Amino acid sequence: MTREKFYITTPLYYVNGELHIGGAYTTLAADILARWHRAHGKDVFFLTGSDEHGQKIEREAAEHGMAPKEFADSIVQKFHELWEALDITFDHFIRTTDDYHERAVGEVFKKLMDSGDIYLGRYEGLYCTPCETFVATSEDGLCPSCGRELERISEENYFFRLSKYGDALLELIDGNPSFILPPYRRAEVRNRVAEGLEDISVSRSTFKWGVPVPGDPDHIVYVWFDALLNYVTALGAPDDTERFRRYWPADLHLIGKDIIWFHCVIWPAMLMALGYEPPRTVFAHGWWTINGEKISKSKGNIVYPREVVSLYGADTLRFFLFREVPFGRDGNFTFEAVDNRYHQELANGLGNLVMRTASMITRYFGGKLPSPAVEDEGAKALAALASAMPAKVREAMERVDLGAALEHIWNVVREANRFVENSKPWVLAKEGETERLGTVLYTLAETSRLLLVELYPFLPRTAPVGLAQLGAEWDPLDAEPLERWGVLKPGSPVTKGKPLFPRVERPGV
Ligand code: MSP
Repeated sequence: MTREKFYITTPLYYVNGELHIGGAYTTLAADILARWHRAHGKDVFFLTGSDEHGQKIEREAAEHGMAPKEFADSIVQKFHELWEALDITFDHFIRTTDDYHERAVGEVFKKLMDSGDIYLGRYEGLYCTPCETFVATSEDGLCPSCGRELERISEENYFFRLSKYGDALLELIDGNPSFILPPYRRAEVRNRVAEGLEDISVSRSTFKWGVPVPGDPDHIVYVWFDALLNYVTALGAPDDTERFRRYWPADLHLIGKDIIWFHCVIWPAMLMALGYEPPRTVFAHGWWTINGEKISKSKGNIVYPREVVSLYGADTLRFFLFREVPFGRDGNFTFEAVDNRYHQELANGLGNLVMRTASMITRYFGGKLPSPAVEDEGAKALAALASAMPAKVREAMERVDLGAALEHIWNVVREANRFVENSKPWVLAKEGETERLGTVLYTLAETSRLLLVELYPFLPRTAPVGLAQLGAEWDPLDAEPLERWGVLKPGSPVTKGKPLFPRVERPGV
């Protein structure tokens, strides 16, 4: 039986500098989902990469006294280091300067010139270089998206016949409720499409850093047209490759809300022009802000992932970003909030639960898991809640609601800790109620195990450590048989290890 495929992508990051936590956010989300789908039997293809052409990169490289490619190489190296530090399990990393991609972009461009979907015209108007976006109108000469100064350009340009695809796009949006997620992002895109679409410029001729237009090398392909194509060129398109047939259409393009128009309008129209299916889902997340302002290089309000990782570890960054804010909404970043989540939820909540469970089994049962020999109301209720959790997590993950998945999990963490307080195992031990104590500790061990199985995509380093302490089996490619109650066998060894989340002193606090 062939496994079902799951093709998930991140945007290609501009190589204009080191990535901050806003940039890492999309990739961490993709990694969580990729791990979750792999653990549930899917044949996952997880793509990320770098966006290297265009005026912005050309200028940035010049400021560093470097050639664009040389500059890009140095930044891509940093991306790779970051993805390694954050345990990102991508299957392929595409660079828009890769030969096969450049060749494919030229071929696609030619194809669309031949079909009449791309034609030569003249662009007179405004351009935002930081956003690499053509801007229709602006009263104050500033970019409506980033607020920076626009440049007036007047160029002979190739145009893509976007106007032709308005009706088809409306049909796509209306007929597929999960094409644009979260649902609250749909109306805005739909309304703008319904107002009517104009053809868009897809080439530039005043600089050289890009893929030359076939047969007209004074022009280079517009950086967004080039970059969007990565999602299919990475699979070998426009050649009819086995990989392309296997994985296209993408199941999930993860993006930030700032680039929703490119992904939900321009990209599907390009695909329609090429005769390819549109992606199944585009999910747009919100922005991380500092004091309410979007974290961005140009504003200089930046937090780098390593600042969190060096203090609290990579798992904490992952956990925090998806626990603190519903995935889709904006959220404000503070180190206080990271510190609170770490100490209250990871250290005192989850870490303490696993620690108490393992150490009481060690102390009272010599490190052998006791059997749940007698009935206990509290234990029964906790077991029922924990057993129901994996299905709820699944439902949330399928909607790409990472925050809801964590909330279902944390509900069980809270109840498990409450059960420890209510059942007072240390009193049961003192009073010699060994059988009841066995039931309580078995229930806690099995609950902790289920929690760690569900948390694995969010805590890929820590969850396996906790599972090992509980003597539990774990297979990152096959979680389903482990998602039911009663997998831990009485008599199996449990070891008390180091705390999963040791206390952290923040310097200067
Ligand atoms: N190169 C384009 C994407 C091309 S995709 C074919 C681009 N690159 S980017 O580096 O500027 O942004 C990459 C991603 O990082 C986007 O999804 C963007 O939304 C995200 N973020 C950048 N700053 C962010 C925050 N402050 N908060 C959350 N995400 C943010 O756009």
